Amino acid sequence: MRLLVTGGAGYIGSVVTALLVAAGHEVTVLDDLSTGHADAVPAGATFVAGRVQADAAAVLAGGVDAVLHFAARSLVGESMANPTLYWENNLGGTLALLDAMRVAGTRRIVFSSTAAVYGEPERVPIEETDPTRPTSPYGGSKVAVDTALAEFARRHDFAPVSLRYFNVAGAHPQPGHGGGGWLGERHRPETHLIPNVLSVAAAIAAGRGGEVPLFGDDYPTPDGTCVRDYIHVTDLAHAHLAALGACQPGQPRVYNLGSESGSSNLEVLDMCRAVTGLDIPVRIEPRRPGDPAVLVASSARIRADLGWRPDRDLRAMVADAWAFTQSLALPSR
Ligand code: UFG
Repeated sequence: MRLLVTGGAGYIGSVVTALLVAAGHEVTVLDDLSTGHADAVPAGATFVAGRVQADAAAVLAGGVDAVLHFAARSLVGESMANPTLYWENNLGGTLALLDAMRVAGTRRIVFSSTAAVYGEPERVPIEETDPTRPTSPYGGSKVAVDTALAEFARRHDFAPVSLRYFNVAGAHPQPGHGGGGWLGERHRPETHLIPNVLSVAAAIAAGRGGEVPLFGDDYPTPDGTCVRDYIHVTDLAHAHLAALGACQPGQPRVYNLGSESGSSNLEVLDMCRAVTGLDIPVRIEPRRPGDPAVLVASSARIRADLGWRPDRDLRAMVADAWAFTQSLALPSR
């Protein structure tokens, strides 16, 4: 298939692009590099530097069978401080994309949605039919797109699949790729737990020392720290290929993507200590505003409909993220 991947220079978009290219698809990546990295675009994909609003229509006019839409701002805290950025980029950008798709006659789309659409859940594991009550403009912008996709399916026969990611982690091995053969997480600033812990580990290994800030140890959870549902980026990427094959005109689909099991922040830290062999110290800080205590997905729907299931556990995620973190120190970066 001829595919457009928006945001294909980012963490998740680049891994999905790698799998699409390996599966024989003809992939064009559109990314404005505001948060992505040109050197993350896998070999074999065509790279167009540009913005969804301004430049997607030209790519679509060249003939595209389906779009995988990753380009978005994705920080909850930043969205609280600058909501307009999120509504403009995530909702405005997507509406422009959908309109350009309608004009070009491209109707299949796989969309990066998020667990943040659920806000503070009433129960876990969370099912797709549970209420969406986002507590941030980030989550709000994503649920608005989910709604728009359903509308485009009804009115224009679009074939959308929306994937609601829980906590994505790990790195994808890409032998021969520059910078050590891994595609991984390189956000600036980095706010996610596992890369933050591993960058402290790398500093300790290099003799510089450091401490991990742990946001809150008084949550109503077994060890007092937040519980999250982690999913390996490679498993997540495979779900996109399954979703692409499941796009049906007029039938919008929504799937949670998680592992159905929770890990507390302290359990994640212990796994990072076990994998790195380093004693990584923590500093307890106040709770981070907006963090729900527990987020765990039910993935029953995607398992039943598409036969997808995650294969890689938390140890594999941390081990791959650690290999990637160490590769960042290699001279080729
Ligand atoms: N944490 C720390 N120290 C850090 C970083 C994170 O203690 O240095 C804690 C957080 O407070 C939270 C847990 O680790 O309790 C996980 O935090 P992350 O930032 O790694 O992930 P989130 O669960 O906040 O974010 C995920 C997705 C977002 C999504 C959000 C919905 O990455 O895209 O869930 O709540 F919006």
